[in-house]
Amino acid sequence: MKDEQVRELLFQALETELGGVQVYTTAIRCAQNDDLKEEWQEYLEQTKKHVQIIEDVFHKLGLDPNEPTPGRKVVKTIGETLVASMEMALSEGEPGAAQLVACEAVVMAETKDHQNWHLIGEVVKHAKGELAKVLKQAHDEVEDEEDEHLYHTKGWCRELWIESLGMKAVLPPPEEVKKVETAIGAARAEQARSQMV
Ligand SMILES: [Fe+2]
Ligand SMILES: [Fe+2]
Repeated sequence: MKDEQVRELLFQALETELGGVQVYTTAIRCAQNDDLKEEWQEYLEQTKKHVQIIEDVFHKLGLDPNEPTPGRKVVKTIGETLVASMEMALSEGEPGAAQLVACEAVVMAETKDHQNWHLIGEVVKHAKGELAKVLKQAHDEVEDEEDEHLYHTKGWCRELWIESLGMKAVLPPPEEVKKVETAIGAARAEQARSQMV
């Protein structure tokens, strides 16, 4: 394994979680649906916890959480852009539209977040000693929540878009009702929606 790139992954994972706090804080202001707002409030709290968990990883591995890397600068910029896109939609003053922009922003942020933790899981399989121990503990705490963040918000995004198009939506989305936590489960939930409308 390339140690330098493992470090880069951890820096990007930290930056993604920090950006996630900002993304959720703004997304909650865009949410119109009460169930979605409640869900994102829960995800915001979990994301704040993830920041602590990854900062703890840095501490245990003797890494400086403030060290700049080229990759984390990119991640930070993307996070700021997602927040700016929601602010733009909010200032346009169409509440339903801002909610859709927020759903898409959360899906984009969570796609990166989910991938980071998936990759950290892959590192755990090949790492040894203290690195393996520290990363495994963090990964075990976070991974199930990341599945939920991504798959459930994708479901919200699809159904709220369908509703906005004037078609019958399944709300809350099937991913939510079926408590989906895997990619296969998400695909099944999407397939089952036609029987649920
Ligand atoms: Fe996270
Ligand atoms: Fe997440």
